[in-house]
Amino acid sequence: MKNTIKKVMDKEHERVEKILEEFENSLWNLKLAREIFNRFDWTLEKHFFIEEKIIFTIYNSSDGESEDLNELVKEHKEIIWEIKKIKDNLDRGVRPSIAKLKGIHKAHSKFEDEVFYPRLDDELSEDEKELIFERVEEVVRG
Ligand SMILES: [Fe+2]
Ligand SMILES: [Fe+2]
Repeated sequence: MKNTIKKVMDKEHERVEKILEEFENSLWNLKLAREIFNRFDWTLEKHFFIEEKIIFTIYNSSDGESEDLNELVKEHKEIIWEIKKIKDNLDRGVRPSIAKLKGIHKAHSKFEDEVFYPRLDDELSEDEKELIFERVEEVVRG
């Protein structure tokens, strides 16, 4: 079956969600939580890099609408801010609340999976999509 951006990114979102869940389940042990948090932080940094530096950039240069792009980048910043608050808590040995992070991250990924990436699959050329698949592979496996 043909590869789609939606399919590739759905899988990536699932991976991020799984680590977030693991993090949540580890909060009874702050030392363990800290280790899993570092993995989560790194995975999400890479995820945003894939989106902003590869997918959004290619979409932008193919004259895609920029309003959604601005909103998505703004939400990335909000998510990074929440992560920073959680990191500060962990640094002080305080158990963080992750409800807000979970909420905004879930809504954000849902929009990408259900609206944004299906639209890119429709609007981008096969060559542009191929380039995205190659670059995503490089970042994820590289
Ligand atoms: Fe995103
Ligand atoms: Fe995403």
